[in-house]
Amino acid sequence: MKVLLTGSAGFIGFHLAKKLLDNNAIVIGIDNINQAYDLDLKKSRLKILAKNKNFKFYKLDITNKLSLEKLFKKEKFSHVVHMAAQAGVRDSIEKPGLFINSNIVGFGNIIELSAKNKIKKFAYASSSSVYGLNTTKPSDESEKCEKPASIYGATKKANELIAHTYSHIHNLSTIGLRFFTVYGPWGRPDMALFKFTDAIFKKKKIDIYNHGDMNRDFTYIDDVVEAVIKIILSKKKINTNYEIFNIGSGKIITLKKFIKTLEDVMEIKAKKRFLPMQKGDVKDTLALNTRIEKQYNYKVKYTLREGLSEFIKWYRSYYNK
Ligand SMILES: NC(=O)c1ccc[n+]([C@@H]2O[C@H](COP(=O)([O-])OP(=O)(O)OC[C@H]3O[C@@H](n4cnc5c(N)ncnc54)[C@H](O)[C@@H]3O)[C@@H](O)[C@H]2O)c1
Repeated sequence: MKVLLTGSAGFIGFHLAKKLLDNNAIVIGIDNINQAYDLDLKKSRLKILAKNKNFKFYKLDITNKLSLEKLFKKEKFSHVVHMAAQAGVRDSIEKPGLFINSNIVGFGNIIELSAKNKIKKFAYASSSSVYGLNTTKPSDESEKCEKPASIYGATKKANELIAHTYSHIHNLSTIGLRFFTVYGPWGRPDMALFKFTDAIFKKKKIDIYNHGDMNRDFTYIDDVVEAVIKIILSKKKINTNYEIFNIGSGKIITLKKFIKTLEDVMEIKAKKRFLPMQKGDVKDTLALNTRIEKQYNYKVKYTLREGLSEFIKWYRSYYNK
């Protein structure tokens, strides 16, 4: 099994690469190492992966089709796991062009080359953001998603539509992974958990949007990795070549409970600043996990407290706190 893993310097890509290597896959990672957040974190992740002889890395931008063509020709992948994207709802309001380039043009290049090179499975990161302004909770894969609340959500929905066409015309096996707020060690500095932790350690106020009236389905990284690896490694015959899965914890956590649990785990009280809702954000997310549970025997293992403890342990050791 030879996997092209895009976004391998990123949070989820890094963890997936490690697990694929543990399962004896050869992993070719690509990433443009963009400056969306602290570069040291991306470099440190890559340093860890580089220790494995079955991992090879190319610094490459997925909007550069010519370089990608050469790479596909040279490396001859059996599977593609596409994680590279501009991530984050709020940034997409300020820099829509960046999101359209990486998430639509870049996505188009990767899927086109996957079809041309007869890749066995093409798994890609979608997002809970595709549910946008839908109010039914939990969110079910079979519901219509036509009301994205952000450009980011719109690009992820566009990916699913493009994937459908490639499955239909080229018989490419595509699997869309709708992740719900993933957190854990090596997590992203632009996400709430990291920002809260950082501010609490520095005795600064944490920003709480919509005055705390928000709820999220938080999914621990090891649970996410477990699900994705099961899907990629599975030899099970499925009756469709176009699949979409929610990957969440299936539990709704109020922002207040999230902060309280974090304070308990850190044994420090947070100073709080309550603010209105941010543009592009949604009030609630919650995954219905039935589809992946049934098809791949997916079971969530981590509670919020366990997941947060793992994150804080990592944070303390990485930043010497
Ligand atoms: N973390 C979450 O909670 C979450 C939730 C839903 C969906 N997702 C999706 O999962 C995927 C991975 O997310 P993450 O949290 O690991 O984000 P991340 O930002 O840590 O990782 C993405 C990586 O892609 C790289 N990248 C971006 N544009 C690129 C380009 N044009 N060419 C090459 N590399 C490029 C970045 O440098 C980064 O290292 C993304 O597609 C994201 O949209 C994440």
